[in-house]
Amino acid sequence: MTESPSTILVRAQPQQRTSHRVEDEKHEKQNTVRINGVDVPLHAAGVVRGADLAGAGIRAYDPGYAHTLSCTSSITAIDGAAGVLSHRGYRLEALVANASYTEVAHLLVRGALPSTLQHNAWTRALYKKAIAPIGARKTLRALPRSAHPMGALVATLAATGATTDDMNPSRCRDTYNTTEGREAAALAVLRCVPALAAAVMRHSRGARTQFLRLPSSASQWSFARRFLYLVEPRLLSGAAADARVAAVDALLMVHADHEQNCSTAALRHLASSGVDVFSAMAGATAALYGPLHGGASEAVVRMLRRVGGLQGVDTFLAAVKSGRERLMGFGHRVYKNYDPRARIIRSLVKEAVRGAEGNAELLAVAEKIEESALADEYFVKRRLFPNVDFYSGLVYLSMGFQPESFPVMFALGRSAGWVAHWLEFMDDPHKRIIRPHQIYVGDNMQHRQVLPLPERPDGELLPWMAVRRAKM
Ligand code: CMC
Repeated sequence: MTESPSTILVRAQPQQRTSHRVEDEKHEKQNTVRINGVDVPLHAAGVVRGADLAGAGIRAYDPGYAHTLSCTSSITAIDGAAGVLSHRGYRLEALVANASYTEVAHLLVRGALPSTLQHNAWTRALYKKAIAPIGARKTLRALPRSAHPMGALVATLAATGATTDDMNPSRCRDTYNTTEGREAAALAVLRCVPALAAAVMRHSRGARTQFLRLPSSASQWSFARRFLYLVEPRLLSGAAADARVAAVDALLMVHADHEQNCSTAALRHLASSGVDVFSAMAGATAALYGPLHGGASEAVVRMLRRVGGLQGVDTFLAAVKSGRERLMGFGHRVYKNYDPRARIIRSLVKEAVRGAEGNAELLAVAEKIEESALADEYFVKRRLFPNVDFYSGLVYLSMGFQPESFPVMFALGRSAGWVAHWLEFMDDPHKRIIRPHQIYVGDNMQHRQVLPLPERPDGELLPWMAVRRAKM
């Protein structure tokens, strides 16, 4: 007989306690919570270790890991109820107002805001040999121009991993065993991502040359200026050039990290198997691509075009409330308040769309959707607010980027956060291969007999199978 999920839930076998620090041990002795008749130590306020919970005969069934703490981290903190995001103790708003993307990347990856001396050394290191590896170039050229730029970014990152033997643990066993080895790998990723991101954007636009060379003066340029040149040198000419650079710099900072989001969790998951860092980045990029995560920026613009102007907003929101549509760029697993990233982008978007007639109309639709949703019981009750992706696409659209490229911009900014998490994970003394469990609800595990193929009774045929059979 198949065991019911609830039976399995309370029958968890005690597991070995993971080793932990002496201070934790003392703390736990004083603070326990009684579960299933067992005193389970509290690891921190309201937190028990999964292994201790299993020791009390309980395991958590947690689809979407909505209540699971998978690691400790000192990189980014979010207070979702208050709508606050900070990196290593600095609020995002203060970083965007007073720092640049390369400074924030240093903060995330190296642990502190850099001094001028450190920043110069950091950007020199990032800009040195910042080119796409040959394997990635060949891979991109082999893809059709119609390939989605995010798919192309995944492919070129994977190709880089496949062709960088000295940073691949399957070819060079000890490559990540030293701090120097891990830092070299982190730097190699950060160097190639801008070149790959710009190239996939050029490829999908049909540009004759995918990989542009920066002029020698670019060693003095900001990261955002260099990137815009690599995408399209013309973006750096005209009266709006500096504003474009400033907007991209701010957007990259806004996207730089967001603790254990889907793509970062995917990166840690992949890294836990010991795969090379480029493959882990490719996996994170693939996770980001989906419309529920970074792909929402692209989906929002397509949605705004579909709404049919200001007069279509009410009908569209009615469709959302009835479950026929999803309001892209709204809602978040952690924020139950206005996403602070969306607030920053909202302050940029008006200026960005100035002079771009069609985009101004889309912005008006977006603003009406926001205003109506924030006053509507459906969204208020569920605490759904605009998220980072609601307005970002309109800024990129006004720069002439195609919607398919928007998640590439997200990936570019997030690469600093991914690398910071990769380093943190690799250094974590408690790291283990990530391998969750399941509640098996299928047929009895042991006793079914395997009949030879001709003796098995006919089962259900799906419509496409039936068509095939008729043709045979
Ligand atoms: N439109 C309509 N209803 C929504 C939306 C939305 N965008 N988001 C959540 N809901 C409803 C959902 O249907 C559910 O309602 P009910 O309680 O009646 O079943 C309730 O709100 C709770 O939502 P959930 O699906 O349990 O929330 P989640 O934490 O599993 O999903 C989310 C979070 C971001 C995937 C979801 O809000 C969503 O699909 N948003 C649209 C896509 C989007 O903008 N994604 C970008 C997220 S921000 C960038 C990033 O960091 O990833």
